[in-house]
Amino acid sequence: MWEIRDKNIWITGASSGVGQALVKLLVKRNNFIIVSSRSRTKLLELQMLAPTRIRVLDCDVGNDEDMVRAQRALSELTDQLDLVIACAGTCEYDDGLQLDIASYRRVFDANFFGVVNTLRLALPHLARAMSPAQKPVFAAVGSLSSVVGFPRAEAYGASKAALGYFLDAVRADTSRVALSIVHIRPGFVDTPLTSTNDFSMPFLMSPESAAERILSGLEAGHKQIDFPRRLSLPLRFLGFFRTLWFRFCAPKITRIYKLRFH
Ligand SMILES: NC(=O)c1ccc[n+]([C@@H]2O[C@H](COP(=O)([O-])OP(=O)(O)OC[C@H]3O[C@@H](n4cnc5c(N)ncnc54)[C@H](OP(=O)(O)O)[C@@H]3O)[C@@H](O)[C@H]2O)c1
Repeated sequence: MWEIRDKNIWITGASSGVGQALVKLLVKRNNFIIVSSRSRTKLLELQMLAPTRIRVLDCDVGNDEDMVRAQRALSELTDQLDLVIACAGTCEYDDGLQLDIASYRRVFDANFFGVVNTLRLALPHLARAMSPAQKPVFAAVGSLSSVVGFPRAEAYGASKAALGYFLDAVRADTSRVALSIVHIRPGFVDTPLTSTNDFSMPFLMSPESAAERILSGLEAGHKQIDFPRRLSLPLRFLGFFRTLWFRFCAPKITRIYKLRFH
């Protein structure tokens, strides 16, 4: 058990939703926080909460060139990082199985390559925080949607499933060094990302409550933070007994009754 207080933290996806709620909680605990997203204006507004303890690093995590600039900017802001939360992400549904490659690339750029870029920039700074007393943490936000194959979520779910494998491999590679890799998988959270969803979202929670669960999971030292349990347990059960999912659940939620070819 550790307390996230007086730490150096970098949060991507901080301009809204879960990322912003995390910043608001963490700033109350006297942490120094670097906030990132593409929208500099929103980040500057957020900085008004604590101008000396919140620093703005606007960048597009999925854009490799922009991340070269961000690497220099990050080094100017801090030498070392105790905690990184890669929260930036986006969602695009594949309606009618269009398999639009451009859409898949946008989703993978933010949700998968964005996390790879974030880790690349963060690693030297996390390494500087490593000591026998302190184990720095790299956490990334995936999704419970990657536990089973959801209709229309081919791009989003696949990007989050790829993220899960990536984090496992990084955890294996760093298993002899003092670095914690954490995979966070929320259920439905009421944010701009889900605001246009036209289906019922079971156990929808507020971004504040999601942020609290993430922080308590991090402080407890959990490597996998799945919530809410009411959703994660049945999904994990169905992920294990996949035949049940495809026979009884998927046919009830798919919107495709006939494939159309143009
Ligand atoms: N809401 C849910 O139900 C839910 C469920 C499971 C997992 N998640 C995951 O939780 C994370 C946060 O989502 P949210 O619900 O809080 O959504 P949100 O309110 O839309 O926030 C997404 C954040 O990511 C930033 N972002 C998006 N693309 C980016 C890019 N290429 N580079 C830098 N920043 C980028 C956005 O800022 P800019 O637009 O300013 O760049 C924004 O700050 C995402 O990874 C999402 O997949 C959400």
